[in-house]
Amino acid sequence: SNLTQDDLKRIAAYKAVEFVESGMVIGLGTGSTAKHAVDRISELLREGKLRDIIGIPTSTTTHEQAVSLGIPLSDLDSHPIVDLSIDGADEVDPSLNLVKGRGGSLLREKMIEGASKKFVVIVDESKLVKYIGGSRLAVPVEVVPFCCDFTRGKLEELFREAGCTAKLRMKSGGETAAVTDNGNYVVDLYLERDMGDLEAASEAILRLPGVVEHGMFLGIATTLIVAGKSGVTVRDR
Ligand code: A5P
Repeated sequence: SNLTQDDLKRIAAYKAVEFVESGMVIGLGTGSTAKHAVDRISELLREGKLRDIIGIPTSTTTHEQAVSLGIPLSDLDSHPIVDLSIDGADEVDPSLNLVKGRGGSLLREKMIEGASKKFVVIVDESKLVKYIGGSRLAVPVEVVPFCCDFTRGKLEELFREAGCTAKLRMKSGGETAAVTDNGNYVVDLYLERDMGDLEAASEAILRLPGVVEHGMFLGIATTLIVAGKSGVTVRDR
């Protein structure tokens, strides 16, 4: 077939929006896949096929997109229970554990998607991995700017056995650190081997002072939608 990767992202996103019902509070994801879901929700609102949706955006970028499309918005302070979130991922393992945060929005994503009754992950088939870190893309960690090289060193030390190289994320082409929506920095963990017990790895990262959150989403996704050249599949955890 002649489907591009962006077509596959759109197919997965549209499939996920079939789970959206009128009256729901919806977590709006961030990235090139989730963007299609936000577009689709606004289309169905305009056509009158959906009503009374409240969107909870996971980033300033998605907030701006949703505002420009006229989707009514709120936040977790006013709506602490989210009916359904839809978002992409950088990696998905066979147990539906995820890596997210290539776009730097992992903290708000984890807060909102963790507060969701249902979290539907939408990916094209290139995102499927045998184990977390398996695509050799980084596992991102959001850190406070204060002495971030100290924290970077501690993170690298933590995963020495997995051949970890920890790098402070820079602005594209820039000399300065990339800044998240929350005013923090990101340290990317590049791994040569798997990290072993993911829950233990997660706890070890979160125990470090200076760390705010990491991009491993363990046991949070409830449904996975994968679009591939041979069709789209929906799977519950
Ligand atoms: C944003 O911080 C990320 O978690 C994205 O949700 C994730 O990187 C997927 O983005 P794409 O759909 O653009 O690959």
